[in-house]
Amino acid sequence: MAIRPIPQIGDPVLRRPTDLVTDVDDPEFQRLVDDMIETMREAQGAGIAANQVGVSLRVCVIGVEENERYPYKPALPLTVLVNPTIERLDDERWLNNEGCLSVPVRGDLYRWMNIRVTATDRYGEPIDKIYRGLSAGTVQHEVDHLDGMLVIDRMDDRRSISTWDNFREHGMDAYLERIGPIIERTEP
Ligand code: NI
Repeated sequence: MAIRPIPQIGDPVLRRPTDLVTDVDDPEFQRLVDDMIETMREAQGAGIAANQVGVSLRVCVIGVEENERYPYKPALPLTVLVNPTIERLDDERWLNNEGCLSVPVRGDLYRWMNIRVTATDRYGEPIDKIYRGLSAGTVQHEVDHLDGMLVIDRMDDRRSISTWDNFREHGMDAYLERIGPIIERTEP
């Protein structure tokens, strides 16, 4: 396994919609997945998309263990999503504040509360799963990457944008209060 460099906003690979994965048995694909997992852990991310290690393929990894970058996020098992699609289960939205390993700032944006994800795992086994709350937000964030979207595209109130340091100092308390009820309803 190897840690790969993470392209930053402005790199065209982040804006190109990714190609479907067609061969999960390709050793190069399995190496990519291993490297994404290691790169995500090293960077303390809650998820990572293949184009965030410079490879334009429709695969992402999500997973939250104990995490300094996101101390408030409920645990989310390490899951590889190959060719994922998202269906929202209803109209409920909530106002998150998100950062990204490819963007130096964070800010407010809306996410669907309840979603269903269809994908396969890294070995081609089908995945059909419901996610709610913060975990649903993480999946939507990664699938946005695979579609060539970045968090800033969804930040309607640009006055909410801040550096991580300033968010920790000035925004975190109000944010945690706001998302308390969402954390309660987060699945898994
Ligand atoms: Ni991101």
